[in-house]
Amino acid sequence: MPTLGVNIDHVATIRQARRTVEPDPVAAAVLAELAGADGITVHLREDRRHIQDRDVQILRQTVRTHLNLEMAATDEMVAIALDLKPNYVTLVPEKRQEVTTEGGLDVVGQRSHLADVVQTLQVAHIPVSLFIDPDTPQIEAAAQVQAQFIELHTGTYAEAKQERQQTQALEVLKQGCERAIALGLRVNAGHGLTYWNTYPVACLKGMEELNIGHAIISRSVLVGIERAVREMKAVIAGSV
Ligand code: PXP
Repeated sequence: MPTLGVNIDHVATIRQARRTVEPDPVAAAVLAELAGADGITVHLREDRRHIQDRDVQILRQTVRTHLNLEMAATDEMVAIALDLKPNYVTLVPEKRQEVTTEGGLDVVGQRSHLADVVQTLQVAHIPVSLFIDPDTPQIEAAAQVQAQFIELHTGTYAEAKQERQQTQALEVLKQGCERAIALGLRVNAGHGLTYWNTYPVACLKGMEELNIGHAIISRSVLVGIERAVREMKAVIAGSV
């Protein structure tokens, strides 16, 4: 069974909505690890809309499992990664206007740039994963640029409206996973995975890690709200 990387970006999104200090993604990471998370994933975006530089610096010191830094393949981010030394880096495409990462990286179209970035990071002992759609040319290009990992984009599978489309998308993921492993790549997956659609992806042979954020943070709001309200009632009543 694959391991679970918990993406805590949305904890920072709530904090940044008020530009305040809570909830602290560092505290969320500690609790996620106590609950069994195998890794902590954060996306330091160019626009710093959620995770901040301070977060990744503290997380580097506090994360006891492994820290996966998602980032764009820019000079600024490469410099940060070389300094931070996360356990691995996942290169993602980044557009300022998008709500979340929309598609996979175009490795085919940026082969030489990505080969340079992968080499720079891996020479510094930071394994690199490329977040790509489960398309054969992209998978083959990922192997050519010598990334150690790919992260298969599960968005098409997750967003499929009908069972038949979802079954087809799962088959594409399965074939992508097999092709990548045959090329010597290690395979992670993520995006849009929920409590209802994750298990079939977890069963794909050779799948190493699933990176899941939105579903877990959404559920934590709902499973935590009753306790949070009770605690505020106690504060108002002067009983704490
Ligand atoms: N993997 C990558 C590369 C991502 O960009 C994201 C979203 O930040 C995720 C996984 C997690 O996706 P979700 O929040 O939909 O679980």
